[in-house]
Amino acid sequence: MTDAKPLLRVRDLKVTFDTPDGALGAVNGISLDVGAGDTLAVVGESGSGKTQLAFAMLGLLAKNGRAEGSVMLDGSEILNLPDSKLNKVRAQRVSMIFQDPMTSLNPYLRVGTQMAEVLQLHRGMSRREAMKESAAMLDAVRIPDAASRLAMYPHEFSGGMRQRIMIAMSLLCRPALLIADEPTTALDVTVQAQIMELLSEIRAEFGTAIILITHDLGIVAGACERTMVMYGGRVMEAGPTEKLFEAPSHPYTLGLLAAVPRLDVAQDELRTIPGDPPDLLSLPPGCPFAPRCPLAHPPCRETMPPLVPFDGDRVRACHAPTEEVKP
Ligand SMILES: Nc1ncnc2c1ncn2[C@@H]1O[C@H](COP(=O)(O)OP(=O)(O)OP(=O)(O)O)[C@@H](O)[C@H]1O
Ligand SMILES: [Mg+2]
Repeated sequence: MTDAKPLLRVRDLKVTFDTPDGALGAVNGISLDVGAGDTLAVVGESGSGKTQLAFAMLGLLAKNGRAEGSVMLDGSEILNLPDSKLNKVRAQRVSMIFQDPMTSLNPYLRVGTQMAEVLQLHRGMSRREAMKESAAMLDAVRIPDAASRLAMYPHEFSGGMRQRIMIAMSLLCRPALLIADEPTTALDVTVQAQIMELLSEIRAEFGTAIILITHDLGIVAGACERTMVMYGGRVMEAGPTEKLFEAPSHPYTLGLLAAVPRLDVAQDELRTIPGDPPDLLSLPPGCPFAPRCPLAHPPCRETMPPLVPFDGDRVRACHAPTEEVKP
């Protein structure tokens, strides 16, 4: 939200899937801005619409899905562009790391071959130049002995190293924006921390803006300047990450924070939010979180609270915020 024409400007984005049981609203009116070099975390439980939000922006929805709203990249509308145009955007301006890294790496091709092909195709490099650049990129993601690793196959790397390769591949065309969907979920805690550190370094080194999608609020602190909390395909609260941790405003954010493992709380005391995620085929008229919200009162079940600004640079959609912060 730094300049008049941000890198990415999303307005009222909606994603609907046609299913045998009717229309399913996976994303129900999301707006966000990402400026050059910004870092935004998109956080929410499984099924809250995080991945479909990213897919819709990049034209990757499944056949039964459709997107409405506006997605402006560099000031131009890209929502629902034909693949011929989106291919260029996806290759050169916005890169995505998918939730399952093995779906994006070809197990039968050497890592160097896969990387070089991208550079030959999209940056017109010779094979030789492309191999050199690939080695430099593996080096940039701190893979030791990068040049000799180019000859290895994906399965010869550990999970953490494979995720580094995915990040290296996604950076080959020097995208302005990297969308990382659960980049650390399959990794153990130490490796998770290393990957998060790497993403920070990449942002510093290449100036890449990053959207980090995760269900784990615990990895967001220190990694992203701003955080957007999603539930039922809507924004519950968004703002600077530090403020969100210090004074979570939405009861849902509070619930997510309580689920973050802490050293001073025994694992078996870890709380999850009681209740089930909303049925996206028939969302309640009020706040989607109301059925699970400990602070819900009658209006919460009747009308969806609007997203309102507060505390300068924060927004929330709640009739019963955890504490009233003076504007
Ligand atoms: N092709 C589809 N047809 C119907 N429903 C779909 C389709 N793809 C996704 N959905 C539904 O859309 C909702 C949002 O899914 P999404 O993948 O965005 O969740 P998510 O927040 O990324 O969750 P997770 O943390 O598990 O990855 C889910 O209820 C999911 O079942
Ligand atoms: Mg997902």
